[in-house]
Amino acid sequence: MKVLMVASECAPFVKTGGLADVVGALPGALAPLGVEAHVLLPAYPPLFPLLPRGKDVAQFDDLPGGPGRLVAVDAQGLKLILLDMPQLFDRPGGLYSDEHGQDFTDNAIRFGALAQAAARAAMGAIDGFSPDVLHAHDWQAALAPVYLRMAGVTQPKTITTIHNIAFQGRFGADEMGRLGLNTDWFHPEGLEFYGDLSFLKGGLAYSDKITTVSPTYAREILTPEFGMGLEGVLQNRAQYLSGLLNGIDTEIWNPAKDDALARRFDARSLNRKAENRAAISERFDLSADSKGPLFCVISRLTEQKGLDALLGAVPHLVERGAQLVVLGSGAPELEEGFRAAAAQYPGNVGVFIGYDEPLSHLLQGGSDAILIPSRFEPCGLTQLYGLRYGTLPVVARTGGLADTVIDANVAAFQAGVATGFMIDAVNYEAIEVAIGRVITAYSDTKLWRGMQRAAMRHDVDWAGSAGAYVALYESLAG
Ligand code: ADP
Ligand code: GLC
Repeated sequence: MKVLMVASECAPFVKTGGLADVVGALPGALAPLGVEAHVLLPAYPPLFPLLPRGKDVAQFDDLPGGPGRLVAVDAQGLKLILLDMPQLFDRPGGLYSDEHGQDFTDNAIRFGALAQAAARAAMGAIDGFSPDVLHAHDWQAALAPVYLRMAGVTQPKTITTIHNIAFQGRFGADEMGRLGLNTDWFHPEGLEFYGDLSFLKGGLAYSDKITTVSPTYAREILTPEFGMGLEGVLQNRAQYLSGLLNGIDTEIWNPAKDDALARRFDARSLNRKAENRAAISERFDLSADSKGPLFCVISRLTEQKGLDALLGAVPHLVERGAQLVVLGSGAPELEEGFRAAAAQYPGNVGVFIGYDEPLSHLLQGGSDAILIPSRFEPCGLTQLYGLRYGTLPVVARTGGLADTVIDANVAAFQAGVATGFMIDAVNYEAIEVAIGRVITAYSDTKLWRGMQRAAMRHDVDWAGSAGAYVALYESLAG
């Protein structure tokens, strides 16, 4: 079984969030199950060093945005196919926006080109390569199934996976022509979304199957509260929609082998976590004699993540004797809010505004609990990393957070299965209540250790869901 995955991010090469982690880890989990996955992604600057090592496998003269070539290269255990189009992807700034945070004005063309190159690769443009399934991830890849359908092609079958329905790839209708899309398909059951072109809607309308990254989110997006305007198209196609929970790469995220930690540990040596906490305290100038738990946040700072509500609970957290470290970047007002909190509570609140992969490992290693008060969360990966590192997740009851954390209620305690704490609503009062429950539980060392061990026993690897993806691929390939 051969699968062509199409995505705009892939860890460890290019990453803005969990999409990259999933695209980087899923192929490795599928391989032992007999699936050969190839990942097609744009050749962004961090991938340039791989190009000379690769093999030219296709050349196109007329993609949206001009000529481009495909270069196949194996790296870090992944079979990559890079779309080399320097006119679209060789730029300073981020993957989607410039140095000032402004979205590139030609993102429709950039990801239209990615999708069209994928469709042509799926239709035989690469000698000797004919995938059984094309698997598109998120809006950046979602036109690939549309181009296949427009070409009248029914093999390979197609899947669109929604990692976050808040990002839809919505552009002006005038892009249709530049992207070579059939204008007959511009209607509300097709590519049109309130007068605009929607990449994601196209993928949802024209793929053979749709998946998202947790069972709860698969139900939530059928409702107006979570569907972000696409609940109608999803309701129409509900029989083709399923929720497959993300896993994590348990080699990269392994507290017993993690080079980014000050001290490695496992479930039998949890007292060693204290040395990681000490390293965090030193780095953030936190007072070393705190008796309360250390909470961390590792997150994009956006509306989705509910961190504006957390800001309101910081005074309470500090008054109750706990500490907080925040690693994140994003909305200027949230960056400013957390900087101000650190200035207000020196010694108890530490903040690093920016992106730092090794620091994210150290925070998982040395914190006692990780706060994730998201308004919505398709899956969420940081709570899974937290479980793996005995850093108990404190999460909103939504999406994949609800599917992966077992609240420390009385029944769960008695059964010895509690792994974290649910926040009942995304406001500062509810977050304070949850923080209070954490602080109480933390003061009982034996109970806390029991929860940490239950968390570390929780299955967070890809084994289960990789099997579910294979079953889905097989059902399509026949
Ligand atoms: P999302 O994809 O919505 O951002 P996830 O929880 O699925 O949320 O994935 C976020 C990923 O990005 C995790 O791997 C997390 O550790 C990482 N991450 C987020 N912010 C930072 C940061 N500032 N520095 C390092 N890693 C970060
Ligand atoms: C998205 C979601 C996140 C999910 C990730 C990987 O970025 O916001 O919840 O874990 O994709 O699927």
